[in-house]
Amino acid sequence: MATVKAAILGFGTVGQGIYNIVNERKEQLTKQTGQHIEIAAILVRDLEKARPDTPGVLVTDRFEDILTVPDLGIVFEAIVGEEPAGTYLERAIESGCHVVTANKVMYAKAGASLEALAREVRTGVGYEATVAGGVPVIKTIQNLNLANQVTGIQGILNGTSNFILTKMRKEECSFADALKEAQELGYAEADPTNDVSGFDAFCKLMILSALSFGEQPDWERVPMKGIDTLTLDEVIDADRQGLRYRHIADVRRDEDGRLRASVGPVLIGPDHPLYGIDGVDNAVAIETAYAGTLTVIGPGAGMYPTASVMVEDAAVLLNQPFRTLVTE
Ligand code: NAP
Ligand code: HSE
Repeated sequence: MATVKAAILGFGTVGQGIYNIVNERKEQLTKQTGQHIEIAAILVRDLEKARPDTPGVLVTDRFEDILTVPDLGIVFEAIVGEEPAGTYLERAIESGCHVVTANKVMYAKAGASLEALAREVRTGVGYEATVAGGVPVIKTIQNLNLANQVTGIQGILNGTSNFILTKMRKEECSFADALKEAQELGYAEADPTNDVSGFDAFCKLMILSALSFGEQPDWERVPMKGIDTLTLDEVIDADRQGLRYRHIADVRRDEDGRLRASVGPVLIGPDHPLYGIDGVDNAVAIETAYAGTLTVIGPGAGMYPTASVMVEDAAVLLNQPFRTLVTE
């Protein structure tokens, strides 16, 4: 039985989830991929931080050490921000590794060039976890791209925002307390600015746009607002009128063929398809040429929903090497 060595960049909420699932699902993964996946190395920023034990695994704060692991085949990336994550993945692909990422801030910008590089060196890129946590929206659109056509996308793409809005509405919880709970549950980023300002949902929308339409709208022309613009009174008043605020990201082609996108809180009534989506759930309504609107719903953040789709991506890449997930 061949062994494929894997590295995890980042050992916080998502990185630890990947480590646990790869070990808990060892037999299933071996059966499904025909290869034994061994986590050989982990990259962190602060070696002094207390972490769960990972016996026999190299834990380092130097990316160079990761690339020296013999027979490294897969790099999981679960660190934060555009750089150094983008450069690390570029170097991992150049070294012949498949890469699997959850980092939407990096991927919204660098996705196209990473995919091009991966095609060149005949390796694979998985990025299901960059959008909507455990919801298989990337796979769904990849399938639609084979013979159908996506005409518009509307979704709740930030789990933290939906969780906070739900707590405010149902429990009259303050914004600050709800955010604190979202952080404790591993939904919010360590720095939650991107979650509550709308930028996290914006990056996810740009990734979906590239995949669905082969391009992104001009970032500067996309109106973007977060839930940090709403007060508890506004949320409660809306509820009394039978309405709900939802943080909605939308992209579609207009009649002139130009991409139009927006990100921000929208007040909706019970007839709206996103009215019933509560808590950390995300929902993505995909409008298509031939199949009407398909809506996928599920946990948009959290350790295991996110890590599980990353391990699934890795298994797909091991089964179908050279399947770079193209946007063109
Ligand atoms: P986290 O708990 O804050 O963990 C981040 C990890 O990355 C930490 O172990 C940190 O090291 C490490 N790290 C950060 N910068 C680094 C650098 N420059 N070099 C080496 N290591 C670095 O974050 P997370 O929630 O796991 O999220 C990880 C990524 O997944 C983010 O891009 C996030 O947006 C994305 N994501 C998260 C979720 C979720 O539900 N949490 C869902 C989908 C996608 P130290 O521990 O030493 O500080
Ligand atoms: N912080 C993100 C969210 C994680 O709350 O949606 C999932 O991308």
